[in-house]
Amino acid sequence: MITVTVPATSANVGAGFDSLGLAVSMYNTFTFEEADRIQISSVDGTHIPTGSNNLVYRSARVVYDQLGIPLKGLRITQKNTIPMARGLGSSSACIVAGILGANALLGNKLTRRQMLTLATSIEGHPDNVAPAMLGGFVTSVIDEGQVYSVKKEIDTELAFAAFVPDFRLLTAKARAALPAMVSHKDAVYNLSRAALATAAFCDGNYALLGVATKDVLHQQYRLPLITGGDEVFELAQDLGALAVYISGAGPTIMAVVHKDDQEFFDRAAAALAADGPLHHFTVHRLLADNVGAVVS
Ligand code: HSE
Repeated sequence: MITVTVPATSANVGAGFDSLGLAVSMYNTFTFEEADRIQISSVDGTHIPTGSNNLVYRSARVVYDQLGIPLKGLRITQKNTIPMARGLGSSSACIVAGILGANALLGNKLTRRQMLTLATSIEGHPDNVAPAMLGGFVTSVIDEGQVYSVKKEIDTELAFAAFVPDFRLLTAKARAALPAMVSHKDAVYNLSRAALATAAFCDGNYALLGVATKDVLHQQYRLPLITGGDEVFELAQDLGALAVYISGAGPTIMAVVHKDDQEFFDRAAAALAADGPLHHFTVHRLLADNVGAVVS
């Protein structure tokens, strides 16, 4: 039996729309065995599709197809900790698990680049699947159908405060809210910050993250879809976060803080618990995952 553990991910990191992403310490675990028919079950009671439309199974099948090997069925179990449709990479975890699980069952014939490219073709963009597979802070580019990624380990002195609301936001809906065209000025605004954010993470210059994670390409269009999102930005900034951004397509808001800043989490939890507009959010204290998906 093959077991695959995949971390949650937080994409975009502000300005790096569809390019930057980082892995954090929340995990889904999947098991794979070859079988004569499709047998899919959740070991934690989460409602998941159990037929050929299951995303883990569909992703595994892509590997079988790629290698020209017929697939009769698979026995798959899923243990879900990453909340679904919250901007923390739950779909990417399924895709990466399906690809890595099938590749392991079939004798590890695919390279990491091939698997990353397959995962990106299923997800549509690489910024969640790349850190899910590699761990760390990952910058990715798609060029002529191939995915090119560079991983940098995240400083373990950082922590991530994930403000997760109790409602889902489908990526398709959050992408539909974006304008089809952007100005040259806005493109420069973001590309310069995405480059600065990458340099700041690489250099440990976290004082720059507040400026480097500002964005004009997606967050302003998505915040109206996130009830209480503006207030969470304000709360996290007031509590001294190094950076605050919408995690992936949302609705989770992510704050980057120093690991020893326990006061941030205590005060954030108290503010969310108080009577007010933010009681539908829960704050999770996460650490960097620098390992990525593990196959055993
Ligand atoms: N870059 C993607 C987006 C991440 O913002 O739509 C969500 O999967």
